[in-house]
Amino acid sequence: DTDMFTYDPGFTSTASCESGLTYIDGDAGILLHRGYPIDQLAEQSSFMEVAYLLLNGELPSKSEFETFNTHITRHTMVHEQLSTFFRGFRRDAHPMAIMCGVVGALSSFYHDSTDINDPKQREIASHRLIAKMPTIAAMAYKYSVGQPFVYPKNSLSYTENFLNMTYSVPAEEYEIDPIIASAMDKIFILHADHEQNASTSTVRLAGSSGANPFACIAAGIACLWGPAHGGANEAALNMLREIGTPDRIPEFIARAKNKDDPFRLMGFGHRVYKNFDPRAKVLSKAATEVLDKLGINDPVLDTARELEQLALKDQYFIDKKLYPNVDFYSGVILSAIGFPTTMFTVLFALARTVGWVAQWNEMITDPAQKIGRPRQLYTGPTQRDYVPLGER
Ligand code: SDX
Repeated sequence: DTDMFTYDPGFTSTASCESGLTYIDGDAGILLHRGYPIDQLAEQSSFMEVAYLLLNGELPSKSEFETFNTHITRHTMVHEQLSTFFRGFRRDAHPMAIMCGVVGALSSFYHDSTDINDPKQREIASHRLIAKMPTIAAMAYKYSVGQPFVYPKNSLSYTENFLNMTYSVPAEEYEIDPIIASAMDKIFILHADHEQNASTSTVRLAGSSGANPFACIAAGIACLWGPAHGGANEAALNMLREIGTPDRIPEFIARAKNKDDPFRLMGFGHRVYKNFDPRAKVLSKAATEVLDKLGINDPVLDTARELEQLALKDQYFIDKKLYPNVDFYSGVILSAIGFPTTMFTVLFALARTVGWVAQWNEMITDPAQKIGRPRQLYTGPTQRDYVPLGER
């Protein structure tokens, strides 16, 4: 309890769980990780430090961070046989399809870290998942572009390592641009955890049966892929590119308001935020900074800004309290860094693995934890007797 919040958010009866990791106030647009505001973490911390915070509840001391960071670094390689697993996918497979399959396959590799009742094994599984996601994500990208896999380098930071595995080629070293590395790390921080969203709830529900932790994360990846959830970052940039020029914005706003049209403004609206998503505010500022520093003039950013202005003035969006969410600006930055849109949700999954793993640990170690078992309101027929086929 802190003096800032009234503890009862008004939905105690429908809450799916108790959790101390992330606090969201959707009306005020507040997002805290273990009490720290997301904008302070995004501007001052690092993704690995936020990972430690979410897993352990406190910001690490220098020595605690070094020990944690070394342990993660030394788990970044994947079993060599996993690279053969990739060969089974078509080259044009969506990288998220590859992530679902490959991360699920990890559950067949690491039998020494699947006894969920053993704290040491839980810690090893957690560190392996956080450490290997960048390697697998980079492999998914390399496989899709037909380039050889690049091994991790322990001399690089977590985010630099990911960029090097993604963009380095045997013919020449990838020169890590600090602007890009800093923007990437900030994006990872902003996607790390977000309370009981659909994919986190999926991981918790799968984990509540005692399932293999690697398989639980694969379930979370599958859920995140949907365009209503993490898949919205890919859909939002595709939408902004389809709009093309600001003069076409009213046509798309009209479609989004038309109940008979399934089209929605991608990157807008949220189940919880009825105010600005604080992550969108940080990303909006970062989009301008990163494109300016990289000397990129992408008309998509102007279209995004104009769309935001027009939508926020539109009575439909005002009445329904629809604001830009985390997925609205992230794609502009990811595209400037050089990622294809098909990799956007993979990057979301890479970052959210920290939150999924932290939430899984919190659930698994809760003594009151039982298997998840949502109930339903039955709407089918009342009891009736069977009629043999010959009499029907
Ligand atoms: C993420 O839960 C999380 O925390 C998720 C996430 C995380 O970090 O894990 O924050 C990440 O998933 C962000 C959301 C990404 N999705 C999108 O940007 C896709 C576009 N947005 C929508 O599909 C929608 O806003 C949802 C799915 C996010 C929420 O949909 P809901 O549950 O219908 O939203 P709502 O109840 O707040 O909608 C209120 C009304 C509805 O109309 P009515 O039924 O009242 O007539 O607003 C409408 C909706 O139809 N509406 C939109 C809209 N979003 C909601 N209309 C047009 N365009 C939109 N984008």
